[in-house]
Amino acid sequence: MCGIIGYTGPEDVLPLLVQGLSTLEYRGYDSAGVAVIDHAGELQIVKRAGRLDRLRGALEGRPIHGTTGLGHTRWATHGEPNDPNAHPHTDAVGHLALIHNGIFENFAELKAELEAAGHVFRSETDTEVIAHLIGAIRDEQGGDLASAVRSAMKRIEGAFAIAVLDRHDPHTLVASRREAPLVLGHAEGASLLASDVAGLIAHTRDISAMLDDQIAVLTPGGITITDLEGYPAEAHHYTVDWDISAAEKQGYDHFMLKEIHEQPRAVHETLLGRVNGEGRIAVDELRGGAAVEGDLAHVDKIYIVACGTSMHAGMVAKYTIEHWARLPVEVEIASEFRYRDPILTPHTLVVAISQSGETADTIAAATHARNQQAKVVAITNVVGSTLAREADVVLYTRAGPEIAVASTKAFTTQIVALDVLALYLAQLRRSLFPDECGDHLARMEMLPALIEQVLEQEPAIAELARTFAGAEYVMFIGRHVGLPIALEGALKLKEIAYVHAEGFAAGEMKHGPIALIDQGGPVVALATRGHVRGKVVSNIQEVKARGAVVLVVATEGDTEIKEHADHVMYVPDAHELLYPILTVVPLQLLAYHIATTLGRDVDMPRNLAKTVTVE
Ligand code: M6R
Repeated sequence: MCGIIGYTGPEDVLPLLVQGLSTLEYRGYDSAGVAVIDHAGELQIVKRAGRLDRLRGALEGRPIHGTTGLGHTRWATHGEPNDPNAHPHTDAVGHLALIHNGIFENFAELKAELEAAGHVFRSETDTEVIAHLIGAIRDEQGGDLASAVRSAMKRIEGAFAIAVLDRHDPHTLVASRREAPLVLGHAEGASLLASDVAGLIAHTRDISAMLDDQIAVLTPGGITITDLEGYPAEAHHYTVDWDISAAEKQGYDHFMLKEIHEQPRAVHETLLGRVNGEGRIAVDELRGGAAVEGDLAHVDKIYIVACGTSMHAGMVAKYTIEHWARLPVEVEIASEFRYRDPILTPHTLVVAISQSGETADTIAAATHARNQQAKVVAITNVVGSTLAREADVVLYTRAGPEIAVASTKAFTTQIVALDVLALYLAQLRRSLFPDECGDHLARMEMLPALIEQVLEQEPAIAELARTFAGAEYVMFIGRHVGLPIALEGALKLKEIAYVHAEGFAAGEMKHGPIALIDQGGPVVALATRGHVRGKVVSNIQEVKARGAVVLVVATEGDTEIKEHADHVMYVPDAHELLYPILTVVPLQLLAYHIATTLGRDVDMPRNLAKTVTVE
């Protein structure tokens, strides 16, 4: 949720931290702050509630020069977003500074203990408690900062990542994590840390993802990693294959718009090289090789677990997997999954979908499944993410970094990766002939060009958005694979435009929701060609008869649909199961242009954060 950046090296650190925070601000934007050990050896901390610009303002005219520092953008959990609660926090004597992402579950107990020993706290945060704890341990046991962090880690409970600096050791950062992401960057004469790779990519592509309960000590000369007992340990080392331009707006007004337009390329990348030298469909990582493949061939039930937009991608996949691989699929909200005692056996496959690979609920669901002997497939965009490391099989979406809080290219590429998984399972189970799999893949390879055609309609969609921007409530309806797209269209609109929107199964309208329709109320209907088109048209007539203004997403050439619609957005003809990858695009654009018409902060909508690393 929060963005973390740290640097120690030869450069003046403050501009570098602020630049890093601007890249990471999408992770949380309730407050921002920096801590720098200046050339005089003093610990300088500046922090402000609100967006990064407020911090920038506070730093103007304050020359702070040093080469080691930490920066933080916050998504508030404990304590309101005000200046005192902003990170970094210091220990009791103000010698060390700490930033963190996540939650310390036993902070109240630790706080009471420290208060009894005379500690006075200046904020309501759990973070300050841990800063005091590390400071107290260090004073009591002596030794270096890493030893104090190691001892503190043995006392802290929860899911979190921390980074600490100490004015007594001005060229060192110490970091640790448990069930929350933290990556380290190895650069020439410098070492860095960040909550995700986007914060490091301007400096290095040489990355190590820390594992749980490791302690990293960063100095300009390099990074050493140990475990909680002080023994040498190894993080997950990898090289990032995208560059800084991928994390920049490149002339677009917003990251969201850029990412909508990147979908043809992203889908192409996701599909690339999916057929191996033997003509078989391939996944990216298959841990356990042939044995795991054998297990997958005998799967008798699939659960898909995910949150938000990723869950909508999972809902689409239910149709493809059941149709192509002939396996029963249940789609579950990840935060509910492990609390209802699902029936999991060694023949159950759990498919966990997460753009970030760091969503706490999805990771917890995957871990629960593995503990019950089920096999886990991860569909994620982030190489080396926690979810990717947890899984038996990984399919990467290869969408490139998604910065906007509203997920777009991750969604379409997740569906593509899930379609690949459906074909992979169909191949293992022989539920499709090889040439049928090949035909489906060939159809999928047409998708980038078809998405381009949808994107060409953006001016007309923007015009429609201006018509609908005044609506108080928008309903989205669909059937079959149109239903998850109705849900996704509604989520996009509420998330970035703050317009009340809901998605419904079109056939359910008459069982209640149709009561919401009144004169002029907008309804967006998914009515592309296929076996449910006629049924959706009937549902459209029902809402029109009650005064709704209907905007239909239909298949190009379907001129008859105009008789039932007030407005039509067309997508090119496609296989029925592949339509979601096309029909979601006009809905993304519609939400985007309604949001900009209303003057919303599209990339950083209120109350949200990109990566949800708390339960
Ligand atoms: O990183 P994940 O895919 O696990 O994230 C899941 C949701 O938090 C995410 O899809 C969220 O719903 C988006 N903001 C929707 O646009």
